[in-house]
Amino acid sequence: MYNISGREDMVRLLLTEDKPIVSGLFNFADEIRKKYVGDKIILRGVVEFSNFCGNKCFYCGLNANNDKAKRYKMSSSEIMDSVRYIDSLGIRTVILQSGEDRDMDPLWLARLIKDIKSKYDMAVTLSVGEWAHEDYRIWKSSGADRYLLKIETTNKALYETLHPGMSFENRINCIKDLKSLGYQVGSGNIVGLKGQTLESIADDIMFFKEMDLDMIGIGPFIPHPETGLCSEGHGDAELTLKAIAVTRIFTKRAHIPSVTAFSSIDKDFRKAAFNVGANVFMKNFTPERYYDLYGIYPGREKDSDLIHEITHSTGREIDRSKGDAVYV
Ligand code: 5AD
Repeated sequence: MYNISGREDMVRLLLTEDKPIVSGLFNFADEIRKKYVGDKIILRGVVEFSNFCGNKCFYCGLNANNDKAKRYKMSSSEIMDSVRYIDSLGIRTVILQSGEDRDMDPLWLARLIKDIKSKYDMAVTLSVGEWAHEDYRIWKSSGADRYLLKIETTNKALYETLHPGMSFENRINCIKDLKSLGYQVGSGNIVGLKGQTLESIADDIMFFKEMDLDMIGIGPFIPHPETGLCSEGHGDAELTLKAIAVTRIFTKRAHIPSVTAFSSIDKDFRKAAFNVGANVFMKNFTPERYYDLYGIYPGREKDSDLIHEITHSTGREIDRSKGDAVYV
């Protein structure tokens, strides 16, 4: 009943509102999660080091057209302070995330990666957007381990409407490029975008499997007042949970975070995701003075003690290993 062989099965499960079927789906996803990636919650540290962005994504508060956004860029030494703090807590992954800042010097980032890798026994994940093969290569050879680049939606027409001036093909090529360079690669989508259908979400999940991704981030759309989608409703959190469950069952081995966007709707959804397939918590270590400026969507929760609430309510332990990709 919950074995998923393709798109039709996915759409049927994403569509159903039948409570016993939905809870059966969630329970099965939870079992698959336990079998393939274990029972612990992997803890990772995120540093949002710059909110400069040259893109004009329709849903994102950091879009280049938003001149109300106050821009910041952390210095190397500020970033190293955050990394030192993450290390001191025994967290073994740092995710360096930023807007897509064309003015960033790729060699600056390469030096930063080398510095982190030489001082700490820590995995470095980059999440800085679309760059040239050569940049990706230099960062990999400087020691970067992983890269996150969300496809956001696999519907090409919708992708191009939401991302003016960007190319769907280029985004896919970047993901392939990163894989070929030996990064552990993550991607993901947004659930509840205007114009998105259940079939389209099913296609996203087919894509995750086809790309054989190591990490998959799935989150609900949250409207931001300074964007073209300001008057839309937020994505359906229950549907997002179903998408996570279906993704877990279909891809089995991927590391799946419970994303912060859930908390913008209700903190309970961020907890709930851990019972339907998610196994990663990304804790924010962006310094206080910058945190509110990283305004991709409103209502970003300060997650100070949430991981403990979650381990308490789920009875699961924290995994403080690097949390590398699991292969089956
Ligand atoms: N709602 C939900 N997710 C968003 N993102 C950006 N803006 C929004 C929004 N308004 C997500 C995108 C992006 C990641 C950094 O945050 O998936 O890749």
